[in-house]
Amino acid sequence: MLEEVGFLVDTEKINQEDLPSKLNDYDAIIVRSATTVRKDLIDQCPNLKVIARGGVGMDNIDVEYAREKGLAVINTPAASSLSVGELVFGHIFSLARFLHQANRDMPQSGNTEFKKLKKNYAGGIELRGKTLGVIGLGRIGRESAQIGLALGMKVIGTDPMVDQVELKVDLHPSFDQSVAVTIDTIGLDELLAEADIITLHIPGGPVAVLGEAEIGKMKKGVILINAARGGVIDEDALLKGLESGQIAAAGLDVFKNEPTPREELINHPKISVSPHIGASTHQAQEKIGIELAEKITEALAK
Ligand SMILES: NC(=O)c1ccc[n+]([C@@H]2O[C@H](COP(=O)([O-])OP(=O)(O)OC[C@H]3O[C@@H](n4cnc5c(N)ncnc54)[C@H](O)[C@@H]3O)[C@@H](O)[C@H]2O)c1
Repeated sequence: MLEEVGFLVDTEKINQEDLPSKLNDYDAIIVRSATTVRKDLIDQCPNLKVIARGGVGMDNIDVEYAREKGLAVINTPAASSLSVGELVFGHIFSLARFLHQANRDMPQSGNTEFKKLKKNYAGGIELRGKTLGVIGLGRIGRESAQIGLALGMKVIGTDPMVDQVELKVDLHPSFDQSVAVTIDTIGLDELLAEADIITLHIPGGPVAVLGEAEIGKMKKGVILINAARGGVIDEDALLKGLESGQIAAAGLDVFKNEPTPREELINHPKISVSPHIGASTHQAQEKIGIELAEKITEALAK
């Protein structure tokens, strides 16, 4: 798309240490999370007009400083929301039927243990009719809520910035139909007491939103999903809750210590894990690329 409108696009990887000498020849740079664009680099590149991040978090960019200097700083927050929402349900489906653990156990034990494993994993649950509690009703929270509704779940949500959300459950375009649903948000305590499955979609912060006290307020046997940021659930409290049976199972795509999450979490029989792949689908990456190309074209046209 950028080439079509006449830009020269260089996709060669340039090492971080070579950026100061090379970046000034470019009008725009696109980074992911690994490359840092700090004050000193920005100062060394007065010709640079746009810093673009494919993805959401911009911790690797001195955003305020760049904007003060008149640069456009761009990211693509919406492109991956559906993919993250679908991964949440990957974990939920897995945990509802113990697929994560059956996939670990069956190859180890072969045919001999088949009957035993069949018994071990017999107590699954159906999702239809269950209550999904969504903490944080921003982009990804709403996508997850919509998938829950489409599956016949009751959806409840909490968000201090939102009183009511208008959700739309789209059927496949060939049916040309969608169903609109409005949900009034409730308080956190009410959600904790009512939800069978809880999924978090809030920004990361220094303090966990779900710690021991909050876990104590949940329904016994709740399923917890975290595809937001590692710190939003207290990992010690989570392990304790799994141990006591207060939490039946958990799905984690994010961890406090990335990229070296705690062994107790990744080996836990009641935890379905994935290595922070919420946005890692072909479609999300394609949408990120399209959104970047559109925004860069617009920024450089100014
Ligand atoms: N797993 C992945 O690969 C992946 C990919 C993209 C984003 N994320 C993460 O997902 C999270 C949500 O992203 P988003 O795009 O939906 O963000 P968003 O900004 O659209 O929505 C976040 C919502 O959370 C609400 N919120 C903040 N604190 C809250 C609290 N204590 N209780 C309830 N609600 C609260 C905000 O009011 C906002 O509506 C972020 O942490 C983001 O980093 C993960």
